[in-house]
Amino acid sequence: MADSIGLITIDGPSGVGKGTLSALLAEKLGWNYLDSGALYRLTALACIQKEISLDNIIDDTESKIADIARTLDVKFLPQGGVLLEGKEVEALIRTESAGNNASKVAVITKVREALLQRQKNFFQAPGLVADGRDMGTTVFPQAPLKIFLTASAEERAKRRYKQLIEKGITVKMPDLVVEIQQRDDRDINRSASPLIAAQDAQTIDTSQLSIDEVYKEVLCLYQQIAV
Ligand code: C5P
Repeated sequence: MADSIGLITIDGPSGVGKGTLSALLAEKLGWNYLDSGALYRLTALACIQKEISLDNIIDDTESKIADIARTLDVKFLPQGGVLLEGKEVEALIRTESAGNNASKVAVITKVREALLQRQKNFFQAPGLVADGRDMGTTVFPQAPLKIFLTASAEERAKRRYKQLIEKGITVKMPDLVVEIQQRDDRDINRSASPLIAAQDAQTIDTSQLSIDEVYKEVLCLYQQIAV
């Protein structure tokens, strides 16, 4: 029964800790996890592999990209990692430029529509933690608990830097700050499902909080509505 399936949405800008928090929540609750950003990253990668330029996208190209998004052959592996057309592409989609490319396809309304049902399909028993930019506003507006994470731009850049270096990805801090700003601008100012907190979302500023503290706060909010 759909009503008994748990649902928590986690939205916010890049580098705010959504991914880490969402994966942790899903693991502890034993729920499914939707990394919606990965779908936009994979769409962008599939376009590049098909030599479709993501700069100055025109109408005709928008439809082509939407078709690619609709028919994307993707498999998320239970042990982590993701296959695109049968090939492991986890490292390829996690770079900052992959994120930036994702935000270029994410402004296209037809692409967002093409990915909508695929995202909704993740809503399966016993529950779902959905991570993205428009989880609480567009994809799962019925969610009983919506979290919107924020953090200062400096703190987000610092966290992203650490994350990328740990993954062995070379990056320069000033370039990272510029890329994060460009991505924020694109995500906030696009007309289709812009990055915005749902009216009924609980906003948590994570600038001064550890991942464990944020996790405990969200769990506490969940327990309050679950009784
Ligand atoms: O969350 P992640 O950094 O992987 O997202 C990459 C990009 O995909 C974002 O900057 C945003 O442009 C886009 N995105 C989106 N809607 C989502 C998830 C991601 O527009 N629900």
